[in-house]
Amino acid sequence: MGVVKKRETFSSGLAVFFATLGSAVGLGNIWKFPYLTGQNGGGAFLLVYFCCILFVGLPIMLSEFYIGRKTRKNAVGALEELKPGTPWKNIGIMGVASSYLIMFFYSCVAGWVYYYLFKAISGDFVNVTMETAKAQFGDVIMGPLSPILWQFIVIAVVAGILTMGVKKGIEKITKTLMPLLFILIIICDIRALTLPGAAEGIQFLFHVDFGQLSAAAILAALGLAFFKLSLGMGTMMTYSSYFTEENNMFSMAVKVALSDTLVSMLAGLAIFPTVFSFGMEPTAGPGLLFMTIPLVFSQMPFGNLLLIAFFFLTAIAATTAMLSLVEVPVAYLSEEKGMSRKGAAILTAVIMFIVGILATLSVDKTSMLGHITFFGLGFFDLFDYISSNVFMPLGGLLIALLMGYSIKCEDVVAELSNHGKLKIAGLVNVYFLLIRYVTPVLLIVVFLNAIGILKM
Ligand code: PHE
Repeated sequence: MGVVKKRETFSSGLAVFFATLGSAVGLGNIWKFPYLTGQNGGGAFLLVYFCCILFVGLPIMLSEFYIGRKTRKNAVGALEELKPGTPWKNIGIMGVASSYLIMFFYSCVAGWVYYYLFKAISGDFVNVTMETAKAQFGDVIMGPLSPILWQFIVIAVVAGILTMGVKKGIEKITKTLMPLLFILIIICDIRALTLPGAAEGIQFLFHVDFGQLSAAAILAALGLAFFKLSLGMGTMMTYSSYFTEENNMFSMAVKVALSDTLVSMLAGLAIFPTVFSFGMEPTAGPGLLFMTIPLVFSQMPFGNLLLIAFFFLTAIAATTAMLSLVEVPVAYLSEEKGMSRKGAAILTAVIMFIVGILATLSVDKTSMLGHITFFGLGFFDLFDYISSNVFMPLGGLLIALLMGYSIKCEDVVAELSNHGKLKIAGLVNVYFLLIRYVTPVLLIVVFLNAIGILKM
């Protein structure tokens, strides 16, 4: 007979908020959001993104909160408990698979961030110009040994924190570092917005021109909404299994989505004014963050110190998001497969490192493994595309169908109202309207497009 281990929970509502926000806020805000917005035409893309957050992201986040807190299990165990002996548990299995796919490329970019922090501390960016910023980014990603080394360091840090557990690891780190992140990013904004020519960047971010919007851009906005809010792949289910009984999950979902979107906007406001001020192209792609930020602080008093602060905050954001990513397989392996938490963290770290090297060596067409492609995508882009644009929206669709059509309404009302303690009748009606009719329809429409795009 197995021993029933007492499961940890976060210690307060504030801890829940910071941990969940720590999962949402990450490279998605600071690295992915700006370059995708840049590549997809600015304001119109932003508007579609907001709609995806509202009509798809929020209802799915709430659904995951329900599944996690009600069952208090890892992603696979939770679905098995909710719908025993049915294929629904495949949502959890797909979630574990997605979390590996994301980790493979995420750990690579997080490695660049750590490396940039190190370079900033060493003074490598003093007197940087547009040309040298581009050249330095090229050197960092081409390595080949240094990006692999930094990827290894990131993975070791994340696995180390996770072995400390939920309260002493995840909760402690996120509660200390998330508030700091807000302060640092606002300092960056003040600097960027006072650069000559900053207005053009703001205009780019907020000017809506639907002529720019392709089907691929709409899919990218949807994928970004999932990626941003860590949805459709088990992270929010796993984290909510550590929520306290008193959490108001409605307001938690809204607060997390709003704060996360605010951080993305703040990142956009730091990056686009710089892009235009230095005459760079907003369409520069994944290197955008790394080429612009060193320029933001060049030629200003204490510039290098601020640069260090910026990469420090990005490293924090990347690390706390990775904690939640890796927690999915760690909780699964330790609860379902009888491994110790430490063993599960080490095994996941080893897999993440070995396969992650493939991503790191295929970032660019000219990288060592850049010539190996599938549907025209190298490993790095493939891991990103399949997770964000296929697996996560598909996981989200299945979650919407499960919650909308296969779970008893009374059960949902009971759990979301904390067993009658919260008055949420009106909100529950809106939730069901969205999760039954709006969210799945939007997902199917965009998803069919994705299949079309893949064939192109
Ligand atoms: N939300 C994180 C970010 O924006 C990425 C992430 C995706 C984290 C999925 C966990 C799960 O960087």
